[in-house]
Amino acid sequence: MTESNERKIKLEVKDLTLIFGKRKKEALAMLEKGASKEAILKKTKCTVGINKASFEVYEGEVFVVMGLSGSGKSTLIRCLNRLNEPTAGQVFFKDHDITREGNKELLNTRRYEMSMVFQSFGLLPHKTILENAAFGLELRGEPKEEREKKAMTALETVGLKGYEEQYPSAMSGGMQQRVGLARALANDSEVLLMDEAFSALDPLIKSDMQDELLQIQSKLKKTIVFITHDLDEAIKLGDRIVIMKDGIIEQIGTAEEILTNPASEYVEAFTEKVDRKTIITAETLMFTKPLLLQLKKDGPMQAIRKMRTASLNVLPVEDENRLFMGYVWLQDVLKLADAKESHLDKALKTEVPSVYKDYTVEEMLPLISNHNYPLAVVDRDNGKLLGLVTQTSLIIEATRFGDEEVKELIEIANDI
Ligand SMILES: Nc1ncnc2c1ncn2[C@@H]1O[C@H](COP(=O)(O)OP(=O)(O)O)[C@@H](O)[C@H]1O
Ligand SMILES: [Mg+2]
Repeated sequence: MTESNERKIKLEVKDLTLIFGKRKKEALAMLEKGASKEAILKKTKCTVGINKASFEVYEGEVFVVMGLSGSGKSTLIRCLNRLNEPTAGQVFFKDHDITREGNKELLNTRRYEMSMVFQSFGLLPHKTILENAAFGLELRGEPKEEREKKAMTALETVGLKGYEEQYPSAMSGGMQQRVGLARALANDSEVLLMDEAFSALDPLIKSDMQDELLQIQSKLKKTIVFITHDLDEAIKLGDRIVIMKDGIIEQIGTAEEILTNPASEYVEAFTEKVDRKTIITAETLMFTKPLLLQLKKDGPMQAIRKMRTASLNVLPVEDENRLFMGYVWLQDVLKLADAKESHLDKALKTEVPSVYKDYTVEEMLPLISNHNYPLAVVDRDNGKLLGLVTQTSLIIEATRFGDEEVKELIEIANDI
């Protein structure tokens, strides 16, 4: 969380509301009083597209807006560049309020600062692939040679080198969407707005495009607002995800935050089918203040005392610089104590796996099979022990199908 506090905000949306229909004022007043979308529609014939949405998009992140059809995703993204005119609220980009821009400023924002990639590709049939990729630059009035050079580079980035002279009709859906993406990239704007950009593609091509986007993003580090109704896609692409329902933001967070701490029953139901093993990480599962031993300071007697206190037969060991070294087991410590040894060195087992905090349950499971000790989570940069993940918590995560089952398991365990 501290990380996000330090991040630069690229877009800030404040209390954004959009109402479709003529009697906007009346509808807005009803909304203020807490009336539902249905009630407002019935009374005023106005549709609430977005209801007081507030969020920030950080520089360089993929911010996914996710929700069922009709939840307001397109309306929301189209408010960011004012293809839809917000009824109330503000959209800040680089400290200026886009909702207050005049026509000329707005045109510049659309041409230079935010590029849109549409689900329907938005290609012009009578222009070649190269001309299509260069179209945004043509609108800006860039000279032909220059814009074609930039468009070529963008086509290369999306893997379409060699197709410049083709026409869109000769290309598959996946390739056409690559051209759409190339056009946005050629503009070299800081923000990409992608509305269900991959939703029309068949699953295999869709998956390829997702990989491609992630790869491009790892190099270019754009700020991307990506819309989808597909939760798997949201999880794969999103640094953070917004879940929308009826024009209202239900929750904002990383996939892991949303899964481990759903804000509503709606979100919980939505995320039920997600394979948690691939999302929940060591950071969520670890306990961060484990009892441990210091190799230099603690001798066998101290180790026995600590093991008795914690009712554990194994403890992690660190060196004087807090680097994780391994574990000692009770039976080995007892032998040392018997032999009146004053150091733990001989009992230390260093051939043990450790993980980083971003390891998923799926990655950790193979490491605990055949072992009877917790997994050490160490800092990737300095090797210090951050915490321990117990077998119990891993197994519960791995076997749970939903909270109900876990509750049941706990109840059964309590009865015994
Ligand atoms: N031009 C419009 N006029 C009236 N209602 C609209 C218009 N566009 C969208 N809506 C309504 O606004 C709501 C949100 O739609 P939309 O943003 O397209 O949802 P999504 O993209 O999540 O499928 C829906 O109830 C939809 O029917
Ligand atoms: Mg839509």
